[in-house]
Amino acid sequence: MSSADDRLAALRAESRLGGGEDRIAAQHKKGKLTARERLDLLLDQGSFEESDAFVRHRSSNFGLDQQRPLGDGVVTGTGAIGGRPVAVFAQDFTVFGGSLSEEHAAKICKVMDLAMKCGMPVIGLNDSGGARIQEGVVSLAGYSSLFLRNTLASGVIPQISAIMGPCAGGAVYSPALTDFIWMVEGTSTMHITGPDVVKTVTHEEVTSEELGGARVHAEKSGVAHFTAADDAECLAQIRRLMSFLPANNTEDPPRASCSDPVDRRAEELDELVPASPSQPYDMKKVLRAVVDDGDLLEVQAAFARNIVTAFARLGGRPVGIVANQPAVLAGVLDIDASEKAARFVRFCDCFNLPVVTFEDVPGFMPGTAQEHGGIIRRGAKLLYAYCEATVPKLTVVTRKAYGGAYCVLSSKPTRGDWNVAWPGSEIAVMGAEGAAKVIFRREIAAAQDPAAKERELIADYREKFANPYQAAERGLLDDVIRPADTRPRLIRALELFSTKREQNPVRKHGSIPL
Ligand code: HXC
Repeated sequence: MSSADDRLAALRAESRLGGGEDRIAAQHKKGKLTARERLDLLLDQGSFEESDAFVRHRSSNFGLDQQRPLGDGVVTGTGAIGGRPVAVFAQDFTVFGGSLSEEHAAKICKVMDLAMKCGMPVIGLNDSGGARIQEGVVSLAGYSSLFLRNTLASGVIPQISAIMGPCAGGAVYSPALTDFIWMVEGTSTMHITGPDVVKTVTHEEVTSEELGGARVHAEKSGVAHFTAADDAECLAQIRRLMSFLPANNTEDPPRASCSDPVDRRAEELDELVPASPSQPYDMKKVLRAVVDDGDLLEVQAAFARNIVTAFARLGGRPVGIVANQPAVLAGVLDIDASEKAARFVRFCDCFNLPVVTFEDVPGFMPGTAQEHGGIIRRGAKLLYAYCEATVPKLTVVTRKAYGGAYCVLSSKPTRGDWNVAWPGSEIAVMGAEGAAKVIFRREIAAAQDPAAKERELIADYREKFANPYQAAERGLLDDVIRPADTRPRLIRALELFSTKREQNPVRKHGSIPL
C-alpha cells in the first residue's frame, strides 16, 4: 500500500470512530445505537454510500479549533431500502452532542438537495443537542437553511424524521416540517424549551420525559406519528413505511405482488355491524377483513383514536385509509380527529395514494370545549383536504353518515369518485331521535301521550330516512353493496380510477384554514 492509501485508510478509521470509543460506550449505555449502526440497520446491506466524511467545522470560537472531528457530527449519504434509493443523514451524538454547526447543516442541506434533484425520499435520524452553542448565529442560520429545504421539499419527496435522542429548541422544527416523525420510547424527547426554562417561566416542575417524551407526543400533542420500543424497532418500522410510498410526487406508489385473492369476499362483515346505530364495534376489524392480508400500518395510532388513519394495500396497490372508529367516542369528528385526518389526506394526495374512507360518524363533536377550541376553523381543514384532493377517493358508508360529517368525508359533491353504502346504513341530516325532536316538536307537545307520539314519529322518520336509498335515488351514492363484497368492489374501483385525471385550478397555492 502507498502512503496515500495509508492516509485514506487512517482517515476512514478516524471518521468511523466519531467522538471516540468512550463516547460510543456512553451512547450504548443509554440504550442508543451510534449513527453508523443506525444507518446499517436502516439501509439494505452494503448499500450505503457516504458523502462528506472528510468535512470538518471551521470555527475557532471557545477553543473549538482544538477539536475538529471528521464528519462534524453527522453522517450523510445515500443508500437503498428494499432496493429503492433514499437520501439519509444521521446525527452523531458522540461528536459535540450531535449539535448542528454551519458545516453540519451544510452536509444535511447537500443530501437534501441531492434528494430533490434525483427525486428520492430523505430520512433524517435526529440525535442532537440543537444549535452548536459555540458557533452562535451561523449554527442558527444552518437551521434556517434546513427549514427552507424541508418546506420546498414538502409534497415533492417524502421526508421522514426519527427522533432518537434529545431534540431541543428550534431543532424540533425541522422534523416538524417533515411528513412523519418517529420517537423512540425512553431515549427521545422533543420540546421547545427544557424543564429548567419551563420552571423559570411558568414555575411548573416537569421532567424532560413528561414534557416531551415519546408517549406524550404520540398520545397528547399528536407531534409523533409513530413510536418504537428501541432504535432497531424504529428503523425496521421506517423500512416498512417506505414500502408504501413512491420515491417522489411524480411516481405512483410501488405495487406489490398480492397473494390475498382480489375476489375474496369477507362473509364475516355481513354480521359485524350491530343493528343499533349507537352500539359500538371495532372499525379496525372491518379494515383488516378488507385489505390485503389484514395488513395495516396505522399512523398516529394513539392520538385521536376516534379516527383511524392507516396505510394498507388493496390488490397490491398501496392506499391511504381514513376510517371513523365507533369504538372510541362513537367515532365523532372532533378537533384532533379532523386535523389528524386532514394531514393524512393531504399527504396521500401529494404522493398519489388513493384515499379510501370508511364512514360511520354521528357528526361533529358538540360543546363549548370544541367550539371555543375552534372546531369550525379546525374541522374545516378536513373538509378542505378532501375537497382539494385529486387522487382517487373511494368511500364506504358502513352505518351512519350524519350531518356536516357526511359532507366532509369525501361525499359525492366534493368529488368523491366512488361512494357506496352498506344496506343497513343511514345517511341523514341527523339521527332519528334528534330529528324528530326538532321537526315534530309541536305534534309531540300537542299529543295526549307525548312519549308515545314521539316514539311513533321517530319510527316514521327512521323508516323514511334511516337507510341509504334516499341518497342512492339522488345519485349521491353509486351503489349499495353487501358488506362481504367490499374488498372485491373496492379493488375493482381502484383499478377503474387508476387512470383518473383531475386538476385543481391554477393558482400559487390555496389558503387552507390553518
Ligand atoms: C455544543 C453541545 C451541545 C450544544 C450538547 N453538547 N449540546 N455542544 N452545542 N448545543 C455537548 C456537551 O457539551 C457534551 O460535550 C456532549 O455534547 C454531550 O452532552 P451531555 O450534556 O454530556 O449529554 P446529556 O447529559 O445526554 O445531555 C444531552 C442534552 C444536553 C440534553 C442535549 O447536552 C443539553 O441540554 N444541551 C444543550 C441543549 C440546548 O440548549 N441546545 C440549544 C437549543 S437552541 P462533552 O465534550 O462533555 O462530551 C437551538 C436553536 C435552534 O437549538 C434555532 C432554530 C430556530
